[in-house]
Amino acid sequence: MKKLFAVLILAAMPVLSFANTAGPELEKVDIDLSDKAALQDGARTFANYCMGCHSAKFQRYERVADDLGIPHDLMLSKLVFTGAKIGDHMSIGMQPADAKTWFGAAPPDLTLVARVRGTDWLYGYLKSFYEDPARPWGVNNKVFPNVGMPNVLVGLQGRQVVGCKQVQIVEDGKKQYDPLTGTPLTHEACDQLTVKENTGSLNEAQFDEKVKNLVTFLAYSANPVKLQHQRIGTYVLLYLAFFFVFAYLLKREYWKDVH
Ligand code: HEC
Repeated sequence: MKKLFAVLILAAMPVLSFANTAGPELEKVDIDLSDKAALQDGARTFANYCMGCHSAKFQRYERVADDLGIPHDLMLSKLVFTGAKIGDHMSIGMQPADAKTWFGAAPPDLTLVARVRGTDWLYGYLKSFYEDPARPWGVNNKVFPNVGMPNVLVGLQGRQVVGCKQVQIVEDGKKQYDPLTGTPLTHEACDQLTVKENTGSLNEAQFDEKVKNLVTFLAYSANPVKLQHQRIGTYVLLYLAFFFVFAYLLKREYWKDVH
């Protein structure tokens, strides 16, 4: 019995240690892979703000242009800054060894990052940079502590700092309200991220949308055939619905004389 108990404890270990390292709770992001406008905006942000350091080398510009409905000439003039041709992979010139010297860690290829990290994680990560003078780039990240990446979206989001804020009390996943007055119950928490007013070009809702679109693009990039699957799935269902009618009529025809 003791042995069995020990085995059970050991079996549960990975789960327990995982729970411990889960980090801050992540906000859920609801992405829509069929939203072409969101995907195009995300692709633009990716090319402008990320491809200086990160490649997406398992993906070709041409495929992205075709999947997202971007004409090839527009793709080349607005989204390709490396002189690459439309059929080229989305790779970059930065050498991993140089990057390691500059940032302490090489920026990984991002083609599949949405599969590895998940979309909620990416959304949280990109929104969670905050000022920290102790770090080499002057920023740290709540979701990825001591990250080597600078806050490249600071111009859009503005300067974010950690500070104290009144936040609503949540127990067992439920927001708490005063039973008499119905007002939210709050307490002061001093690990909250706030953006300094007028330091970024976008307001909070606009920035959230930008990051969401970027994450939508990364999710597409990690699984480009998903778009195709959805399209094919619709055709298959239409096909089945169509032939059901004939199958039904045929059945009625056959059974007419039997009854
Ligand atoms: C100036 C260079 C630079 C730019 C520009 C940049 N990054 Fe990074 N990024 C890095 C470095 C360096 C790391 C590795 C950090 C580490 O491991 O400590 C990194 C790490 C990451 C990671 C974590 C990957 C993982 O799974 O560990 C993600 C996700 C990421 N970057 C996304 C982005 C996105 C999205 C953009 C564009 C908005 C972007 N980065 C722009 C340098 C950059």
